[in-house]
Amino acid sequence: MLDKIKSLRREVENIKAANADELEALRIKYLSKKGEISTLMNDFRNVAAEQKREVGKILNELKEYAQNKINELKEGFENTQTADDNIDLTRTAYPVDLGSRHPLSIVKKEICDIFASLGFTIAEGPEIEDDWHVFTSLNFAEDHPARDMQDTFFIRHNPEVLLRTHTSSVQTRVMEKQQPPIRIICPGRVYRNEAIYYRAHCFFHQVEALYINKEVSFVDLKQALLYFAKEMFGQDTKIRLRPSYFPFTEPSAEMDISCNLCGGKGCPFCKHTGWVEILGCGMVDPNVLENCGIDSKVYSGYALGMGIERITNLKYQVKDLRMFSENDIRFLKQFESAY
Ligand code: DAH
Repeated sequence: MLDKIKSLRREVENIKAANADELEALRIKYLSKKGEISTLMNDFRNVAAEQKREVGKILNELKEYAQNKINELKEGFENTQTADDNIDLTRTAYPVDLGSRHPLSIVKKEICDIFASLGFTIAEGPEIEDDWHVFTSLNFAEDHPARDMQDTFFIRHNPEVLLRTHTSSVQTRVMEKQQPPIRIICPGRVYRNEAIYYRAHCFFHQVEALYINKEVSFVDLKQALLYFAKEMFGQDTKIRLRPSYFPFTEPSAEMDISCNLCGGKGCPFCKHTGWVEILGCGMVDPNVLENCGIDSKVYSGYALGMGIERITNLKYQVKDLRMFSENDIRFLKQFESAY
């Protein structure tokens, strides 16, 4: 017991605390009800009668010493805290820069929200794909140029495994698993083997939409397109459909909107035509439905696909595509208030 008291005394003599919290922890360690000194006090009743006087004396001294020592240290802390009333202890150490959404994320969300208001739900698929989902199921002929090594990134020279070149592959993934009605919107990143310069990149982003049901016609497609264009670019926006070709749609079209910079009068941005192209679309080719196990005599549908970078350029006039992937804070900061 005497040894224990002596070693505790040495310990208490040497205690140091860097702040009030540490000091409080020390107070609890030694002086609280279950603290080390209190425990010794409790054990005191087991001390032999002839030693009680001596032990009791130095035990009381230890307790008093510890109390004084802790009070002394405590006063020290209180003094430093009140020394300068101007210190705001709740302030952060330095100004914190808040992040902001990337412009492509802002526009992607806007596109998805517009289609969501028409009842479309989001579907996603893998970026590393196979030939079936990206090309074959979508009616691409064996010798179609899009399969060419110059366009498609193949993985480890295996022509079966590749990076998807468009989000149309998600159409197939959903149709294989689900019978109509199907009403999906598929945002995602796509890859093409292109030289990087201000107008092209080896990866970019698309949004695909697909609607399959009984008696879906071109009228439904056109109505959805008009609604989308007006919601996205303003109620005065006009649309124009030009015949086109895609392997997976028949008939196919490309959609232009009236130039949102000059309102259709003609300017350098729309090359003085008054129109700018924004997406591809068409009625899903019956071969595609059959490839995915959907009866093309009962069901029909439309599909459309657009590049998110292109829509973002139209909204924000970003002249160099590379800005989207360089993470230059000065560029990204300009979109802080957009959403
Ligand atoms: N997949 C096409 C592309 O990457 C875009 C597209 C065109 C998607 C027409 C469609 C569509 O769904 O119907 O260029």
